[in-house]
Amino acid sequence: MLVTGANRRIGFHLAKRLQQDGYTVLAHYRTPTDEIQVLNDLGIETIQADFSDSDAILSFVSGLKERCQSFRALIHNASSFDKTADDLSVAAQQYQQFFTTHMMAPYLINKGLQPLLHGENGNPADIIHITDINVENPTPDFDIYGTTKAGLHNMMLVLAKKFAPTIKVNAVAPGPVLFTDKHSIDVQKQMLSETPLAKEGGAEPVYLAVRSLLDNPFITGASIPVDGGRRLSKR
Ligand SMILES: NC(=O)c1ccc[n+]([C@@H]2O[C@H](COP(=O)([O-])OP(=O)(O)OC[C@H]3O[C@@H](n4cnc5c(N)ncnc54)[C@H](OP(=O)(O)O)[C@@H]3O)[C@@H](O)[C@H]2O)c1
Repeated sequence: MLVTGANRRIGFHLAKRLQQDGYTVLAHYRTPTDEIQVLNDLGIETIQADFSDSDAILSFVSGLKERCQSFRALIHNASSFDKTADDLSVAAQQYQQFFTTHMMAPYLINKGLQPLLHGENGNPADIIHITDINVENPTPDFDIYGTTKAGLHNMMLVLAKKFAPTIKVNAVAPGPVLFTDKHSIDVQKQMLSETPLAKEGGAEPVYLAVRSLLDNPFITGASIPVDGGRRLSKR
């Protein structure tokens, strides 16, 4: 099972929890971190790649094919998150980076590894895209992030048709699960005030949603929000 962006936070948590469930996990990272050392110490294999351009992504796919004969699931968690820059040339660089990370890398990995994806006990294999509640109700200041994540959501829908019946393709759409330093205290307060369950959810509910998709053989083309209900009241 491949988990991308596993060198910190949610991806790290997913890699650890899925290994605890008995899966053989291959954890992708861009930047080496203490968490990668923790994964290695747990016996989890890791693989480095920067999804910054098509050559790097294609070489990553070739490396995966050489290294593994079969995958039970692909979990696309790697993501770039930032407010859209006012300066147009900086915004152009952001578009390039967010597009390759949120759309081109998942697409090339999914297409490249499709023949190696095999389910268990006669059930389909899984592809899971970690998206965002922004794909339904976008935040204007984060429009490049949001539109490229919406592309990842749409790709989930089309690949659910294209890869059936042997592979299920679904999304998990987090809301406020782990704040970053890009969220000021005021923004955090506003987000929580818009969240019916009124707290930062943490990484475990994201894992639980992933787990429920892996366990259910008859869901495809679906998105599970993990947002404490924020999508209902987000401005
Ligand atoms: N945290 C939340 O509350 C929240 C809310 C909504 C949606 N989500 C979604 O949930 C997922 C995990 O969130 P998170 O907060 O744990 O994310 P995060 O802390 O921003 O981590 C993102 C991961 O993606 C990797 N990455 C970024 N650009 C990359 C590139 N060009 N090539 C390869 N790897 C790259 C990062 O590597 P580096 O360490 O090298 O940068 C990091 O491992 C993301 O898909 C995010 O969009 C999270």
